[in-house]
Amino acid sequence: MSKKLFIKTWGCQMNVYDSARMADVLAPLGYRPVEEPDGADMVILNTCHIREKASEKVFSELGRLRQMKDAKAQAGDGRMIVAVAGCVAQAEGEEIVARAPYVDIVFGPQTYHTLPEMVAKATRAAGSVLNTDFPAESKFDYLPDEAGSQGVAAFLAVQEGCDKFCTFCVVPYTRGAEFSRTGVQILAEARRLVAAGTREINLLGQNVNAWHGDGPDGTTWGLGRLVRELAEIDGLERIRYTTSHPRDMDDDLIRAHAEVPQLMPYLHLPVQAGSDRILAAMNRKHTADDYRRIIDKLRAAKPDLALSGDFIVGFPGESDADFAETLRLVTDVGYAQAYSFKYSPRPGTPAALEHTQLPEEVKESRLAALQQLLNAQQQAFNQGFVGKTVPVLFDRKGKRDGQLLGRSPYMQSVYAEANERLFGRIVEIRIDGAHPNSLSGTVVTDEYHSSPIGTQTLEATV
Ligand code: 5AD
Ligand code: SF4
Repeated sequence: MSKKLFIKTWGCQMNVYDSARMADVLAPLGYRPVEEPDGADMVILNTCHIREKASEKVFSELGRLRQMKDAKAQAGDGRMIVAVAGCVAQAEGEEIVARAPYVDIVFGPQTYHTLPEMVAKATRAAGSVLNTDFPAESKFDYLPDEAGSQGVAAFLAVQEGCDKFCTFCVVPYTRGAEFSRTGVQILAEARRLVAAGTREINLLGQNVNAWHGDGPDGTTWGLGRLVRELAEIDGLERIRYTTSHPRDMDDDLIRAHAEVPQLMPYLHLPVQAGSDRILAAMNRKHTADDYRRIIDKLRAAKPDLALSGDFIVGFPGESDADFAETLRLVTDVGYAQAYSFKYSPRPGTPAALEHTQLPEEVKESRLAALQQLLNAQQQAFNQGFVGKTVPVLFDRKGKRDGQLLGRSPYMQSVYAEANERLFGRIVEIRIDGAHPNSLSGTVVTDEYHSSPIGTQTLEATV
């Protein structure tokens, strides 16, 4: 009999990827994904710990689940297994078990390949199963092949964890040490995705450009080489990767941007701050000028490269002058879009112990100033496309009937009135509107670049 599985996902794309893989692991046990938790046989909260209030959100969600779990039991409808996964589980597993004893399973990001055993154990015995180990084996060697299609644009985890230890960040503690999957494994997964209808692959990793692996010829490959190998897969039209660290932006990867047409002209390259003093306190291991030089090299290789970044304002000890350096860097670089955050002290990280924490109002006003600048840059970037024609890969249905939504090479969301048969294809769109977070346009011609791959593109992804 089929059992109902509900997974709620917070946070980054890696969590989205992990949630899909958890469903793959549970599929042989009869679990099928459902859209709401009420009445489900198993609920997994896949959590994020990167910024504030994450654990409060988890506990309030757990309160609601407890009621549903009780209601299900009282109705004689069996047991709801409640599980907490992801980075909050890793960081606060014991507290979760203590505060919410009705939680059946708590497990970290590196152990979900053992879900069948954890479920069996939870079903057999009373009390919670807690599994926040960093096992010696890699979960990737144990996960089953992905079930079904991920759709036109898919994510593929190639690297996980981080050894950089930025002083504000929990990732090295929650995700563990840097780990690269093998090239053979990645290429096989990519081929399967493409055979199932995927046209664009976004390579995922907390430090994706630190990826390295042994090639079949005995040499060590970096991400640039991996991108070149992926570009050989027939039918894979677009390749992206995220998120990168400036220190790992090597020359081969930069050259790949010039030489591999499938590698899209968009790069998310966080810098976090523009002041060298703050960058040093953050343990970023690069200066603002190092970053400027990398951007210059990238733009020399790929002049139309669209840049994105992450910024933290209000890091402990950040002065007005330091913050002005961040604004100067943003002005120098010019971003197509970016993410910016108020510094949030994370338990267990070195920066949280600093005595120079800044008041909330200072963080607020700096964030507002930075966002104003970044928004203006994004708007100018988007406005520059009005009247131009860009190739858009339609990967979703639009909000309105008859509309399709997709991405430009530069990662902008683009929507247009378009026939359904253009779904899953790259179509030339003339842009006629620039909006805060998207572009709108008109299909130039119904002739598309290439024929669809696989048979189930539309059915499988909407
Ligand atoms: N406070 C605020 N922002 C943070 N980030 C990571 N840790 C923190 C923190 N403690 C941001 C960084 C990172 C992005 C994923 O989240 O900018 O690049
Ligand atoms: Fe966190 Fe820094 Fe590692 Fe990025 S590079 S995951 S910000 S420690």
